[in-house]
Amino acid sequence: MKETNLEPGEVVVARQDIARRLPLLAAEITASLGANVDGLVIMPVLTGALVFAADLIRCFPQRLRIDLITARSYGVGTHSQGPKLEGGVPEGVKGRHVLIVDDIVDSGRTIAFLRKNVQDSGALSVRTCVLLRKQLPEAMATPCEFVGFEVPDLFVAGYGLDCDGWFRNLPDVVALRPRGETKNIVR
Ligand code: IMP
Ligand code: MG
Repeated sequence: MKETNLEPGEVVVARQDIARRLPLLAAEITASLGANVDGLVIMPVLTGALVFAADLIRCFPQRLRIDLITARSYGVGTHSQGPKLEGGVPEGVKGRHVLIVDDIVDSGRTIAFLRKNVQDSGALSVRTCVLLRKQLPEAMATPCEFVGFEVPDLFVAGYGLDCDGWFRNLPDVVALRPRGETKNIVR
């Protein structure tokens, strides 16, 4: 367990804005899926999407199922090491419409990798929904049907997002900075 020398900096997306956005996002998803929202498999990507997915699923009155998937991309600190699946794709996706729910699109590699794996495991259709998308060319170029918020290219944490496992419990999405300093870390 690595200690952290970072602390929460400015708020990037406030809890109130998240709370207002989620029902609208659920309505967009419902409108896009039409009748296929009934029996939809929602697939939160652990661990980062834990908080987002817990709130988002309660915006749907329809019959749906939850199947968890675990992906790792950030090994240590803020440097990406490429996506990996832990424990494979759940059996439950076969023959079903699937909505992958993740925390953030940065390079886009995780979302693209998960979409392909879930599609190859026999899903009827795969859509992706992320809370945050960084305003980076590679993130914007990655197919993703539903996006909660566009955010600047800062390293953010809170509302499920972490740095080395820390800060997931913060209710707002915040920038991080070295303890005692005023400048945010970029990545
Ligand atoms: P990508 O594959 O580069 O798009 O990265 C996606 C994954 O990296 C996300 O699911 C996050 O777990 C992690 N990640 C990327 N940017 C951030 C960030 O700013 N804060 C926390 N985690 C991040
Ligand atoms: Mg993640």
